[in-house]
Amino acid sequence: GRGGGGARGLLGFPAVGPSTDDVVHVPAGYTARVLIPWGTPITGSYPAFVPGTPGEPGGDAGGNTAAQQAEQVGMHHDGMTYFPLGNGRQVSERGLLVLNHEYTDEFYLHTGGHTAGYRPTTAEGVRKSQAAHGVSVVEIERRRSGEWVPVRSRRNRRITATTDMAFSGPAAGHPLVRTAADPGGRTPLGTINNCGNGETPWGTYLTCEENFNGYFRVDGTLAPADAALVERYGVGGDRNGWAAHDSRFVVTPDDPNEPNRFGWVVEIDPFDPRSTPVKRTALGRLKHEDATVHVTKGGRVVVYMGDDQVFEYLYKFVSRDNWRSMEARGRSPLDEGTLYVARFEADGRGTWIPLVHGQGPLTAANGFADQGAVLVNTRQAATLVGATPMDRPEWTAVDPRTGTAYLTLTNNTERTAPDAANPRAANPWGHIIRWDEQDGDHTATRFTWDVFLLAGPGGGVDGSTVAADDAFGSPDGLWLDPDGRAWIQTDGTQPGAANNQMLAADPTRTGADGAPEVRRFLTGPRQSEITGIAMTPDQRTLFVNVQHPGEDGRSVWPAEDGLATPRSATVVITKDDGGVIGT
Ligand code: FEO
Ligand code: CA
Ligand code: CA
Ligand code: CA
Repeated sequence: GRGGGGARGLLGFPAVGPSTDDVVHVPAGYTARVLIPWGTPITGSYPAFVPGTPGEPGGDAGGNTAAQQAEQVGMHHDGMTYFPLGNGRQVSERGLLVLNHEYTDEFYLHTGGHTAGYRPTTAEGVRKSQAAHGVSVVEIERRRSGEWVPVRSRRNRRITATTDMAFSGPAAGHPLVRTAADPGGRTPLGTINNCGNGETPWGTYLTCEENFNGYFRVDGTLAPADAALVERYGVGGDRNGWAAHDSRFVVTPDDPNEPNRFGWVVEIDPFDPRSTPVKRTALGRLKHEDATVHVTKGGRVVVYMGDDQVFEYLYKFVSRDNWRSMEARGRSPLDEGTLYVARFEADGRGTWIPLVHGQGPLTAANGFADQGAVLVNTRQAATLVGATPMDRPEWTAVDPRTGTAYLTLTNNTERTAPDAANPRAANPWGHIIRWDEQDGDHTATRFTWDVFLLAGPGGGVDGSTVAADDAFGSPDGLWLDPDGRAWIQTDGTQPGAANNQMLAADPTRTGADGAPEVRRFLTGPRQSEITGIAMTPDQRTLFVNVQHPGEDGRSVWPAEDGLATPRSATVVITKDDGGVIGT
């Protein structure tokens, strides 16, 4: 059951008000500092960040070169994990911060200023854009002064849109992932649009490929069997201008499968900078938001995953066996197991439906030749088995004390027919649902669920169940800390046109209306979202990311060293009395 938080509750900080300022606000008694903004040198020759020249587009030469960007922190920080190093108290003073770089604002990358619609026009510019994507591994340490800094470490690494990778699991080598450049279908290149994340009990990082579709250009008319690339996954648009200088991002009728090599969960060993990232196909191909790993009492791993698009689904993967025994046999717990998709019933019950070739409608007659085909076309398989279309499933989370699982549903203004799990006919503000697996067993195929809260202006406006003081919209990032505080991060329109923010909710305390206590903890700078969250094991340092400040030209955050170019960055938050964050 859901535990009690005691009379005082979990939230001890004074609330922050809504903000339209171009700074990060945190509660009185807390301090926020900027760490590793886009362009921070971390490897190789450690090239210093050089901003482009505002108002001087052309040549894509503004600022650092592509080769330099590949040795610097990427752009648009997103999901993030802190991996402790050392022993004892050291574990909260030194670690590897591993973070995603979701996408790029090409105008800041090349020209240093906001130039709407700007895309690179040279091969060098495309290479720089590709180098600003992917993942960074950065060793960081806490100085005696309390300040966290990046350190020069042999473990530091950039993974980009061109890094050598491998496929594993049932779709590795499948005809649907074979290309002219990789006829074996086993050696994909790079990772893109890395959104949320996860971490495994064996010490690896999971990065999730979300809106990969927009990086491709489709030339010609695809065969009917390949049309789902466009019709279901939305492939096309060439939004970053890569297709003109990298034919890998041109989809043709003769060589259509490169987009099938994205949309996966990728496993990275952050402790070995020479390790090859692995795309784990057993977890399905979708617009992966994040991957929350939960270990059952029997040692099986369960991975909860959202597919962020209107009317898409919630998934979970369950490993075949105890993860330690699988690792001991040289098997990955993420390669063998069962992928399920969620169906929510109106009576508060729900079912996990397996996506297994040969079961139910997932047959050759319906276009699924084998399990590899089910996994490459996960969305179509989930629709066939009767999954519940949701209001954009973003992050998942599990309360470590109670096992209750949560999902943010960020918004869906296209919905016209509400249902129990998506109760607004149009849902501009989003909501959060939660569920308990049957008998607390996360491998179960049945669960019970309810709506945790409906976001919005508060005080009942538009049906929102939060207080007016805690107004927020578009919940996205979500994490429950070891004490059970639910940290909620926003990405989208906020009530009162306020900046995006982070709030904490106390699931153990509810008001008379049954809604949980919510309190605003942080507000971001202008035109940014708040996303990605990690803590040191002692819970005394909190890391969150500020993504895309000034995406429409109205921010200079963080204004480090007097620079006017806005830069995504990690924010390090500590309590001035050295206490646990949130208390
Ligand atoms: Fe990358 Fe759905 O947020
Ligand atoms: Ca984002
Ligand atoms: Ca997100
Ligand atoms: Ca979002």
